[in-house]
Amino acid sequence: MPVTAQASLPLATRRFPGLQQGLVSRRRVYFDNACLTPVPAEVAEAVKDYYSQAPGCPLRNNSGRSGDLEERIREARDSVRSFLNAKFSDEIVFTPNTTFGINLLSGAFLYRPGKVLLTDLEHNSNRLPWLAHDRLELPWPPGQPFPLDAYRRALHQNIKLVSVTARSNVTGESPPITELVREAIIAGVPVHLDAAQAFASGELDVTESRADFVSFSLHKAYGPTGLGGLYMRREWRARLEPTYSGAGTVDDHFGEKSEWTDGAPRFEYGLQNYAAIYAVPVAMQLLAGIPPQATRDHFAELNAFLRTELRRIPGVRLVGPGDPVVGHHVCSFYVPGADPQRLSSLLDMAGNFQVRAGRLCAHHWFHKYEVPDVIRVSFGLHNSLEEVEAYAKVFGIILRHYL
Ligand SMILES: Cc1ncc(COP(=O)(O)O)c(C=O)c1O
Repeated sequence: MPVTAQASLPLATRRFPGLQQGLVSRRRVYFDNACLTPVPAEVAEAVKDYYSQAPGCPLRNNSGRSGDLEERIREARDSVRSFLNAKFSDEIVFTPNTTFGINLLSGAFLYRPGKVLLTDLEHNSNRLPWLAHDRLELPWPPGQPFPLDAYRRALHQNIKLVSVTARSNVTGESPPITELVREAIIAGVPVHLDAAQAFASGELDVTESRADFVSFSLHKAYGPTGLGGLYMRREWRARLEPTYSGAGTVDDHFGEKSEWTDGAPRFEYGLQNYAAIYAVPVAMQLLAGIPPQATRDHFAELNAFLRTELRRIPGVRLVGPGDPVVGHHVCSFYVPGADPQRLSSLLDMAGNFQVRAGRLCAHHWFHKYEVPDVIRVSFGLHNSLEEVEAYAKVFGIILRHYL
């Protein structure tokens, strides 16, 4: 039986209060990390710490407590800046999630002339907000690499913004980001990366790649739930009108006139999720301590093992790249004739395994290429080979006996 020593996992399972230790057969195995990652004890403690202290009202009252919280917010922004290797911490706008960041951007670009360049493999959150714009959609069919040649040609067709996934939540594939941004810079087109699935890997470097915008969710990066961010290169801030408005976004307002504030709060509307922001430095410190290569190796090992086990089970069809390294932390598959929703419920009831089933919020791609609904196993830094082996075994038994 393959056993992964806890110490060799990038984040040991015991660090997560919700994923108790013990025999794999007795504990909950969490394989839906592409949806939401579990929260390590120290991050949960930080949220608790926020609520165990007196309240403050950052940027609004002059109390010492508010000042302390303002300092913590600056620290939180700076920890994300450092993780993305951005130049300035005021380039990090806090949002509730990736979806909000993309909607914010969509609103800010709405009245600019030109088209938004997308692929057809985008998550609904990087597709629906752009439906109000003229668009050009690059086909990225199942089993094919990112369409780089078509992308190069498309850049010269009146494009105002490229908005593409940095890693697909269906297949785990990434486009060649550095090349993609380099080509866009040559064509004079700004780039937004939907980094919901890529952020936690620690591989995104906005100084190296020179992306203009990066949206992400901290609840997919071992951070607190209900918090995300939008990296916005500094020169864009003054050029974009806030999509929404209200408290915090203006320095002054009289009658019809508003003086928009400078800095990230220009795009942060009303009071923020301070309890979550308070925990960000802790989560970022934890992630920053894991070398990206260790993350890549961990996922490659788990994904290769799962794919080998699944290929032994008659009828299983993998969706996406054959290469487990390319699939990163994602493995999607289906069994013709077996309902994935039922399978995932049985996996939960019979084996305590949480996986995702369905069209993974990428409905357009599933419809367009007539891909059947899938089961998706998505790994986290805390998952072990032992868990994957147990999963494959239970999955095989369910297919043989319960369908
Ligand atoms: C690629 C991608 N983009 C966007 C999102 C939306 O993230 P959130 O629900 O945190 O806004 C997801 C969620 O799974 C995703 O996988």
